Amino acid sequence: MKGIILAGGRGTRLQPITNYLNKHLIPLYNKPIIFYPLCTLMLSGIKDIGIVINPNEREFFEKLLGDGSDWNIKISFIEQKKPGGIIDAISYCENFLNGENFITILGDNIFLSSRLKDDLENAKKDFKGGCTLFSYHVKDPSGYGVLKKNDSIFEIVEKPEKFVSNLAITGIYIYEFNSIEKIKKITFSHRGEREVTDLNNIYLKEGNAKIKYFSRGYAWFDVGSFDSFNEASNLIKIVESRQNIGFGYPEEVAYNLKYISKKKLENLILKVENSEYSDYLTKLL
Ligand code: TTP
Repeated sequence: MKGIILAGGRGTRLQPITNYLNKHLIPLYNKPIIFYPLCTLMLSGIKDIGIVINPNEREFFEKLLGDGSDWNIKISFIEQKKPGGIIDAISYCENFLNGENFITILGDNIFLSSRLKDDLENAKKDFKGGCTLFSYHVKDPSGYGVLKKNDSIFEIVEKPEKFVSNLAITGIYIYEFNSIEKIKKITFSHRGEREVTDLNNIYLKEGNAKIKYFSRGYAWFDVGSFDSFNEASNLIKIVESRQNIGFGYPEEVAYNLKYISKKKLENLILKVENSEYSDYLTKLL
């Protein structure tokens, strides 16, 4: 299976910052936002990762992430001509995927849990085609795609005005390669995007969608707004400073997964010398 991180888009809600800097490069607590979804995909065991970006932003991403060789993974950049929605971004990955199934994560989605690795590995193992969606119980579901159950059939209602359930669909999905063909047939909505909910509802209708639940013990944030951005940043800071357990360090994930040696980790620490980031990594040695 391959991995895709979506890091294009406009980032309208985080203006004026996003007028000069891509959202996924903004620091969340002490590291760029994109490190978190990158670690999520790495934890699932995926080593071949495509990152969808806006064409004029390639140099910044390349400077930060290179080709992934620091962490012994492979990173490729895929340019989306202009923001046209989540599944529009995925449609640009047809050549990169080359027939393989994939996990996609939205570049601004942060998942914090000690169970993340096991849950994603199991979801990958269980995957038999169609798609797998991950839902999360939220107090206020009105801003999300939300699961609605009619008898035994599920459907997703986008930003429901009337209450349908508390189960939001999160920004991590597993799709079969053939989803690309389905995406090609989906037209743009009134807001100028091809909607991921349309694709997921096709799979739900066909009976080809599995739903997994991230329950107690998970924190999930979509950090596309200032409020959730600050909440996530504070939570990560609290856990890191109280427990000294970090989230979103690709070096740590690569080292724990034995992708890189101790010697290699020592060299990577030298690259960020005299920072809190390097202090944290040094404690792993
Ligand atoms: P959104 O948060 O829906 O859109 P956005 O990032 O443009 O922000 P805003 O709504 O404030 O304008 O996007 C979800 C994720 O998907 C985000 O991490 C960026 C990514 N994305 C793309 O890669 N391409 C796209 O065309 C869009 C719309 C989003």
